[in-house]
Amino acid sequence: MKILIKNSSIVTSEQSEIADVYIENGKIVKIGRELSCSSDTKIIDARNKFVIPGAIDPHVHMQLPTPAGPSSDNFVSGSRAALFGGITTIIDFVTTIRGQSITEALNERISEADQCLTNYSFHISPVEWRKSTEAEIKECLKRGFNSFKVYLAYKNSVGLNDDEFEHVLKVVGKLGGLVTIHCEDGDKVDELRNIFANEGHITPEYHAKSRPTEFEALAVKKSIDLAAKNNCPIYIVHVSSALSLQHIKKAHQKGQKVYAETCPHYLLLDDTKYIGDFVNTAAFVLSPPLRKKEDQEALWKAISDGTLKTVGTDHCPFNLEQKAAGTNDFRKIPNGAGGVEHRLALLYTYGVLENKISLNQWVDLCSTQAAKIFGLSNKGRIAVGLDADIVIWNPDFENTISVKNHHQNCNLEIFEGLKTKGQAETVIRNGEIVVEDGKINNDVSNGDLIYR
Ligand code: URP
Ligand code: ZN
Ligand code: ZN
Repeated sequence: MKILIKNSSIVTSEQSEIADVYIENGKIVKIGRELSCSSDTKIIDARNKFVIPGAIDPHVHMQLPTPAGPSSDNFVSGSRAALFGGITTIIDFVTTIRGQSITEALNERISEADQCLTNYSFHISPVEWRKSTEAEIKECLKRGFNSFKVYLAYKNSVGLNDDEFEHVLKVVGKLGGLVTIHCEDGDKVDELRNIFANEGHITPEYHAKSRPTEFEALAVKKSIDLAAKNNCPIYIVHVSSALSLQHIKKAHQKGQKVYAETCPHYLLLDDTKYIGDFVNTAAFVLSPPLRKKEDQEALWKAISDGTLKTVGTDHCPFNLEQKAAGTNDFRKIPNGAGGVEHRLALLYTYGVLENKISLNQWVDLCSTQAAKIFGLSNKGRIAVGLDADIVIWNPDFENTISVKNHHQNCNLEIFEGLKTKGQAETVIRNGEIVVEDGKINNDVSNGDLIYR
């Protein structure tokens, strides 16, 4: 397919320029003024719109297995919602079951994802340290999966102890990979959860109360210290608090490679969402929990000054019926919420339009940095020779986020009622128009599995 985008206001992480973009065979072939084309080229007029690199979401959990059933978006429904939100590449997770080989889990996950409509890749989650783990990590790197996710929470399922964590850091550091970390002190969280539950405090509010910012910051500090000791670059996922940011800033001052991410819900929602009955509060049971207004302010400042490099969604939706597993015990509520569809519009509306970040930072946070950090070398920018993953953004479109009009497969919506401006009006993935006029094409082909 040949496509010529005319009169583009191209916005990249570094600059904005007016030019045409010519696409052929899935690649960006030419960028320049007044480009001409053959008669079999599809021409799109992008006047008064922004042309940006396809967004990359480095943190999603499609069909994540939990005791309350899998997260409610599978790779097809979740990636479809992602395309509506201007996301052309997602990075999901391979999470082994203890006792299972990483290679086997990776192969299973690859086949689960093979109908994914965005491009996709995986972080690999070791959930224990065994004799074979080093060789398995080596194999993952050889196969093009260079980032490894560890959980310091969820100790009775996927969480690692300090010894196991250090093994991962040492080996991944030595082999040139990156370790991404869910930072919450799992032992302290479990202790407090059990105290609350034993006292009869069983409502979602106590989910938040049992995971204070101090527990996140303790795990952030420990991760930074152990990463320095073991010479391993790290990426801290879903940073939610001002306290954690202080440790990250100190590490940066020392020149340590510590990347950090936050999520739209930590920027825009706060802990008052836990006040109310089960039906109205269970949707917000996610980890780390929503924080205070002061934390939100610190996070906005940190995405603007570069302390936080990316905004991932941590998309992990569950239906109300699944959340209801914890009606009488907040510890049984599956953790997570959807958001893959809303990130670009939320950050455009509440970041760019409110002068908290620039247009170029918006692109950097939602696309370019994820490509750089995770080795998606043909993505995240608009430049000749790169993959034609492009979004044409209509800044005038208005929406009110609602469970009634979202495309995520979930009957809960944590951003319900928030007004947004802007829409991924046209989405081009691998040189194919997948969303046109805000509607998805019926015969969208599958995305590519990306080896990094
Ligand atoms: O609550 C969350 N964040 N659920 C998804 C799994 C994780 O911890 O990232
Ligand atoms: Zn997490
Ligand atoms: Zn997550």
